[in-house]
Amino acid sequence: MIPSRVTLVEVGPRDGLQNEAQPVATAQKIELVQRLQAAGCTEIEVTSFVSPKWVPQMADNAAVLGGIARQPGVRYAALAPNLQGLQGALAAGVDEVVVFAAATEAFSRRNINCSIAESIERFAPVVQAAHAAGVKVRGAISCTLGCPYQGHVSPGEVERVVVLMKGIGVDHCGIADTIGTGTPRAAQAVMERALAHYPLTEVSGHFHDTYGQALANIYACLELGIATFDTSIAGLGGCPYAKGATGNVATEDVVFMLHGMGIATGLDLDRLVDTAAFISNALGRAPVSRVSRALLARRSGPQATS
Ligand code: HMG
Ligand code: MG
Repeated sequence: MIPSRVTLVEVGPRDGLQNEAQPVATAQKIELVQRLQAAGCTEIEVTSFVSPKWVPQMADNAAVLGGIARQPGVRYAALAPNLQGLQGALAAGVDEVVVFAAATEAFSRRNINCSIAESIERFAPVVQAAHAAGVKVRGAISCTLGCPYQGHVSPGEVERVVVLMKGIGVDHCGIADTIGTGTPRAAQAVMERALAHYPLTEVSGHFHDTYGQALANIYACLELGIATFDTSIAGLGGCPYAKGATGNVATEDVVFMLHGMGIATGLDLDRLVDTAAFISNALGRAPVSRVSRALLARRSGPQATS
């Protein structure tokens, strides 16, 4: 059942940088995306077309998308919570948009200022207009394994939102552990609910590593045959509406595990480590990724590895 090839959707430029308190220059964001594609990333979540009052870090969305020297074979995605966001994303030439709902009412209110039902009503015309423009729509469901406001979340609550997403024609179902409290069997249980409605190729996992469970959860998903995961270079990120949430699992850590298991990703680990070093330097800190830290220490000399 374990897949022989896995696709990693790089979300560092969006999920990572949306959470940075310090400003990151547009030129650095563009360079980050270009380095990622040079390292073999074929799916990159570049930015969000959300309200700049809510998430000022993504206010330069069109400039970032417009500034990338695009590479054939790479899909550039952006978040779009409503028609206004979709129009901006289409004008900037996205290949894919992401609509994002929550498994809990409390998180839906905090993140997008509406109920789950209202969010689905808002997404329906976004999906229609995106499809009319030939653009694929990925759906992300937050808080599927725990919510910072509600606490425990049941698989039934998640399945309800999966069904609503499917009902409005969302093409892909992303299951997100926003606060990183999920553990492997719980991750499998929730994935099974998604797989009841979407094919294996259209279900993905998005694991934040706050409690150090992300690699184990990804392994548990691999056991179900799931072969698409969101990851974030250098382990960048968090969520502005989930206090204390750290970044997504680091791309380098997932690549190291997958390559070690003989699973192909098409990604070049050395170039990913260079990219992690680039963005971490720009932010004035070391990468969160254990693999990047280890490989950077090894590069700096044998004495550094002892
Ligand atoms: P609202 O205030 O209820 O919206 O926000 P509104 O329709 O009443 O509009 C208010 C103002 O926002 C208006 O401007 C609109 O023009 C503007 P004003 O008249 O006051 O000057 N506006 C927009 N501007 C730019 N782009 C837009 C847009 N829409 C309205 N698309 C809204 C509702 C959804 C817009 C707001 O709550 C919002 O932007 N939320 C975004 C939150 C966000 O980005 N969160 C992080 C991403 S989700 C995430 O990280 C989770 C994920 O990684 C998975 C996981 O880990 O869980 C995906
Ligand atoms: Mg996230």
